[in-house]
Amino acid sequence: MPGGPGRANLGAMSNQDRVESLLSAETLAARVRELGAQITRDYQGKDLVLVCVLKGSFVFAADLARAIDLPLSIEFLGLKSYGDSQETGGVVQITSDLTKPVAGRHVLVVEDIVDTGLTLQYLRQNLATRNPSSVRLAALLHKPARARVKTDIDYLGFTIEDVFVVGYGLDWAEKYRNLPYLGVVVQEPQ
Ligand code: IMP
Ligand code: MG
Repeated sequence: MPGGPGRANLGAMSNQDRVESLLSAETLAARVRELGAQITRDYQGKDLVLVCVLKGSFVFAADLARAIDLPLSIEFLGLKSYGDSQETGGVVQITSDLTKPVAGRHVLVVEDIVDTGLTLQYLRQNLATRNPSSVRLAALLHKPARARVKTDIDYLGFTIEDVFVVGYGLDWAEKYRNLPYLGVVVQEPQ
């Protein structure tokens, strides 16, 4: 089944949908602080640029940047791989590019979730052509059950089951990004 159980059973969006908390705002904040401290230790004296992958990573990137006690700059890269469904087509499109060159700089890609890994595979290949000094990945979430390619995650927040999650920046058809916690949509029988 292409989508796996966690997504295939999500039907049309309705006003009756509930979101069950999976990771609380406090749990997320504590882990983001730990990742920030680790990144702070690893990038001492280096010219660090965070590349926030839009849209889903904007909340994680904002919190992570404030947990890193180093001079850094932030760039945004608009990527789209999903449309409004919950399936990846494997086709990634750049919807908005970096504003500054990253040649000779240490790039830390900030991603919300590594699912099939196809987005990251594309992104790594694309960034490599821009000659950065290094490229590492910080991902808030990883769903190993759905991996289609291997992805090395240097800084990982949480590994989760094969469920479709929303909140803390992640959407379902552009909704739920503003939830302060991470949750799973539960649909009541109509
Ligand atoms: P991948 O290319 O399949 O690894 O997909 C990565 C992108 O798909 C993420 O950056 C998200 O925008 C989106 N995505 C994957 N899984 C979920 C989910 O459970 N909830 C919301 N968005 C997701
Ligand atoms: Mg999305």
